[in-house]
Amino acid sequence: MSKEKKEKMAIGVKAIPFTIVGHVLGIAGAVLVLVWVTHFRGGLAWEATNKSLIFNIHPVLMLIGLIIIGGEGIMSYKALPFKKEVKKLIHLGLHGIAIILGIVGIYAAFKYHNESSIVNLYSLHSWLGIAIISLYGIQWIYGFLVFFYPGGSTTIRSESAPWHVLFGVFVYVLAVGNAAIGLLEKLTFLESSGLAKYGPEALLVNFTAVVAILYGAFVILSVVSQPPQEDDYSAI
Ligand code: HEM
Ligand code: HEM
Repeated sequence: MSKEKKEKMAIGVKAIPFTIVGHVLGIAGAVLVLVWVTHFRGGLAWEATNKSLIFNIHPVLMLIGLIIIGGEGIMSYKALPFKKEVKKLIHLGLHGIAIILGIVGIYAAFKYHNESSIVNLYSLHSWLGIAIISLYGIQWIYGFLVFFYPGGSTTIRSESAPWHVLFGVFVYVLAVGNAAIGLLEKLTFLESSGLAKYGPEALLVNFTAVVAILYGAFVILSVVSQPPQEDDYSAI
């Protein structure tokens, strides 16, 4: 894609202020989900007789892994003043960590279901979840093969770049939406077994989703705004 075309799709302001707000929201989201599971839901465990502790691993890893570390992976191209080779490594590394934590987080949800005799994959949230982790994996492998190793030709790289950005943003927005659905679903389960609708825990869970959505908005703002040094930003 030519530079002129790319600039038309972007807004003319610097990304740095957006990425700074993004980091702050990311830290806030991580703190909120950890406070929720530790203070209100009894903490985290991989093996336990109280199976809810196994479930708790799921929101923590999905939010901190796929959403927050994945979002940092996307923002790294616009947030950091390094050379493009360095940023590429950081981008692919953070997305690699995001996928691994996402897979372990989904495994924890299945483990909780299986050990509590609850059926698997019955909800929209779980179907979207499988689609998201699969698309995220495909995006990572394609990105790795074309932009990193062995690397496509200059034509393939420059023609792939806008698709990579579009597909990446699409999958990421889906993931943020699905995290909000997951928080809503869990809170609804808890409320139907008696949790106060306006109580502190309900507010905390809802605000965690609000913070996650705002974080996603700032990640996307970074994608459509300008890198720190114009010359330093190129796909290929
Ligand atoms: C983008 C991030 C997320 C993805 C990709 C995802 C994916 C999944 C998947 C695949 C399952 C199905 C497990 C099974 O059938 O055994 C599941 C279950 C579940 N997840 Fe998530 N999840 C995400 C975030 C969250 C968050 C933040 C919460 C908040 C608590 C949550 C709550 C739940 C609940 C309550 C279940 C069990 C009920 C059900 O299967 O729908 N999820 N998730
Ligand atoms: C699932 C994981 C991935 C997602 C969700 C993703 C998403 C994105 C997004 C949204 C952008 C746009 C950033 C911006 O313009 O500010 C981007 C750029 C880029 N990504 Fe990825 N990416 C992933 C994995 C990879 C991998 C493994 C590589 C391999 C090196 C890679 C290489 C690149 C390159 C070179 C650019 C710059 C494209 C350009 O100049 O227009 N990505 N990625």
